[in-house]
Amino acid sequence: MSMQQKVVIVTGAGGGIGRAIALEMAQAGAAVVINDVGVSLAGDGGSATPAQETQALIEALGGKAVINTDSVADWEGAKRMVACALDSFGRLDAVVNNAGITRDAIFHKMAIEDWQQVINVHLNGTFYVSRAAAEVFREQKSGAFVHMTSTSGLIGNVGQSNYSAAKLGVVALSKSIALDMQRFNVRSNCIAPFAWSRMTSAIPSQTPEEQARVERLKQMTPEKNAPLAVYLASDKAADVNGQVFAVRRNEIFLMGQSRPVRSVHRSEGWTPDAIAEHAIPALSSSFSDMAVSGTIFGWDPV
Ligand code: NAI
Repeated sequence: MSMQQKVVIVTGAGGGIGRAIALEMAQAGAAVVINDVGVSLAGDGGSATPAQETQALIEALGGKAVINTDSVADWEGAKRMVACALDSFGRLDAVVNNAGITRDAIFHKMAIEDWQQVINVHLNGTFYVSRAAAEVFREQKSGAFVHMTSTSGLIGNVGQSNYSAAKLGVVALSKSIALDMQRFNVRSNCIAPFAWSRMTSAIPSQTPEEQARVERLKQMTPEKNAPLAVYLASDKAADVNGQVFAVRRNEIFLMGQSRPVRSVHRSEGWTPDAIAEHAIPALSSSFSDMAVSGTIFGWDPV
């Protein structure tokens, strides 16, 4: 019971990965604030039903949970979410920033509204909820953040400029929180999850080959991502800070973070011509390729 006596907020916990994490948190002994606005995949509408369903599932397990239906993309809502944890359970120990939407479009057709909404939910939402919780964590000198990022940001994906930018922004935000708050015994880590959820269920399944692939992808259930999230939120992960992991069915990956790959130096300095003739031939064999997430993770989930 690694989360016994602990209180956790899980955003977007009305379905998919968030619900799986909320349930695993409750099973590990945590009291859970289930946050979810209950919107469509694109962020439209709103309903308390998904959050209520998660609450019923937790209570059926004998766990403790309350609901908050504020949007993570609203600073006042984020403050209410943290207040809800304190009012309901008297403390707050961990925040899982999981809420998300997608509004995919090829870059040159990306609508301004779709850019703004996706940045608002993922990047601003992660900031707002983390910032509101940081006040509590600083005071009590402990706390853990777990943020859901994506290989769409870490590696790349076609037609997801808004989502990729937001998700890589979340990684930089997480590292900044880890650096700024380590003095208060606060940790911040990211998970790039993989799951068959409504977010991925648009993958085509027309041909027999596609159908077979989709059947294999369905093995990546949202639940597979939950143990790592619970571990990172718990005191067992006391020495894990500022890291980025990925989970794909039964695989767990430690993802790289940007470091210099190779350098060239010229004591006279550089001109554009010298860069073309000297620097680029020296560096180009180490260029990153144009990989997308699916080419780097090219094998079926194990
Ligand atoms: P999902 O669409 O099943 O669940 C997302 C939940 O977030 C929904 O219940 C939705 O109502 C809620 N939500 C959306 N906007 C909100 C807001 N403003 N405030 C509060 N709640 C809000 O998605 P899924 O697949 O469970 O994804 C969870 C997280 O994992 C997301 O951050 C997503 O970007 C990330 N992710 C998922 C992957 C996958 O393979 N499913 C891959 C990479 C990342």
